[in-house]
Amino acid sequence: MYQANVNLLPFNTFGLSSYAEKFATFSNEDELKELLLAHNQTNDPLLILGGGSNILLTKDVKGLVLKNEIKGLEIVDEDENFAYLKAAAGETWHDFVLSAIDNNLGGIENLSLIPGSTGAAPMQNIGAYGVEIKDVFHELEALHIKTLETRIFNADECQFGYRESIFKGALKGQYIILSMTLRLTKKHILNTSYGAIETELAGMGIQHPTIKDVSNAVIAIRQSKLPDPKKIGNSGSFFKNPVVSIDKFKALQAQFPTISHYPIDEHHVKLAAGWLIDQAGWKGKTFENYGVHKNQALVLVNYGGAKGKDIYNLSQSILDAVEETYGVLLEREVNIL
Ligand code: EPU
Repeated sequence: MYQANVNLLPFNTFGLSSYAEKFATFSNEDELKELLLAHNQTNDPLLILGGGSNILLTKDVKGLVLKNEIKGLEIVDEDENFAYLKAAAGETWHDFVLSAIDNNLGGIENLSLIPGSTGAAPMQNIGAYGVEIKDVFHELEALHIKTLETRIFNADECQFGYRESIFKGALKGQYIILSMTLRLTKKHILNTSYGAIETELAGMGIQHPTIKDVSNAVIAIRQSKLPDPKKIGNSGSFFKNPVVSIDKFKALQAQFPTISHYPIDEHHVKLAAGWLIDQAGWKGKTFENYGVHKNQALVLVNYGGAKGKDIYNLSQSILDAVEETYGVLLEREVNIL
């Protein structure tokens, strides 16, 4: 039913070598239930892998690792304005985005080229360029690991926050996401105000962009800033952008006038962690075979053969340096194992 002692290197975008005691894949719900029935007889720990794009493996993995390979995409409902596109959790996120665009369905074009699987997307409410999954989310279907019962979660029940959901919080480790349905537009509302999208579109000579144009612009921006995990191991943003009080922000701005930030509400400001790390002198810092990416200080990279522990220790040094320089405590976005 499962293989013993399997190297997870091909299954994590950091490209780290780490051995799973037991490893199996599943490509439909029945296979998953069969695996879980057997697993529930043991006391083994369980790790569910999607695209492996948000995990730092610092040691070998005890117990069972299950890789979700359930595939399938389907429009399950539609009306004049919207279509409900359902994706099985094992679909690659970017393929899902491209299928939506091919069907002229909008709302997720800003989320082009985010690595990982569709099932992992709602777990951490993925976001980029002014859009988050929660903005287009309809519902998801998840299987309870112990009872093997299926439950539908709507957006409220998922308790989405900035890179957060109930599946990282109160229900952590209890459910496996099977599928997700998004409510996508037929009459599009483009969101091009964030960051470099408008500049990129202008550079492409486009005045009246389509959702495909926005997707292409996002792809170009991401490719210029973020390393391709197929070439350089990484997990996207390693840290979250921290939220501080307005008073704290004002004190920092007096000391660092160019500090990059986003307003949140009257009392809070979000700081760009990439800026903090960059200005503290860490961007591009390289140690033997790992380091901080040269174009985006939020991204830690494995140039090949690095150890998860080394990358973890580097992240700790960055946390310490940022705390010392700015008095701000960063939080890791990536799951550490
Ligand atoms: N900045 C620097 N130096 C750096 C990196 C950034 O000065 O090395 C400055 C930039 O100049 C800019 C600001 O920091 O003024 C913000 O940078 P950027 O627009 O690149 O976005 P970010 O806040 O660093 C977030 C997400 C990314 C997402 C981008 C675009 C988080 C933790 N990260 O990054 O998400 O792609 O916005 O929307 O929220 C991910 O989660 O894996 C990820 C890549």
